[in-house]
Amino acid sequence: MRPSLPERRFLLAAALLAAWALQPHHVHAQRVTLAPPSPPRLQQPAASDIGLGSAHDPELDYVLNCQGCHRADGSGTPGAIPELAGHMARFLWASGGREYLARVPGVAQSTLDDASLAQLLNWMLLRFDAGAMPGSFEPFSAAEVAALRREPLVRVSETRRALLQAIAGMPAGSRAR
Ligand code: HEC
Repeated sequence: MRPSLPERRFLLAAALLAAWALQPHHVHAQRVTLAPPSPPRLQQPAASDIGLGSAHDPELDYVLNCQGCHRADGSGTPGAIPELAGHMARFLWASGGREYLARVPGVAQSTLDDASLAQLLNWMLLRFDAGAMPGSFEPFSAAEVAALRREPLVRVSETRRALLQAIAGMPAGSRAR
């Protein structure tokens, strides 16, 4: 026996209602199964990206501790802050100049630890004045910087002036000691 028209309408409505009612459950089930795998995978690259536990980066140390005065390109400010670019390595030519580089207040009194500071000085010499570095140059070590920075430079300007005078008076050949 065929269902009457009202019965067919009722069955159609019931079928549509059932299909609609099932749909949210289906979507919900999918969401639950998709969630768990991702978080553990994301954690490792995130930790290494921010450099946790790794050594200091001399370039970043320079930006954060020195660049405010010496400028990004080492040009300084004429009459106030010495130009490091093309001028820093000449101190290595004179006796006492290497010590001066580690004992000048901006270096010795920075908040960086000895190893980071040694690394920073070596990086700066290469970055700003590689062409004038003596062939015999030995990189600063943490122990050397530790010993030098313990003795503060008392008369900074006088020491600096004396060094520059000595350097200026040097015959070109004697510069790479
Ligand atoms: C507040 C400004 C200032 C900051 C910050 C500063 N310096 Fe200096 N720096 C100077 C001045 C001024 C001199 C000249 C010597 C003096 O009067 O102390 C100098 C001299 C130097 C010199 C010797 C160059 C020369 O021609 O005498 C070096 C090397 C140096 N600074 C490195 C650094 C490093 C490395 C840092 C960061 C850790 C730093 N400075 C941070 C102001 C600054």
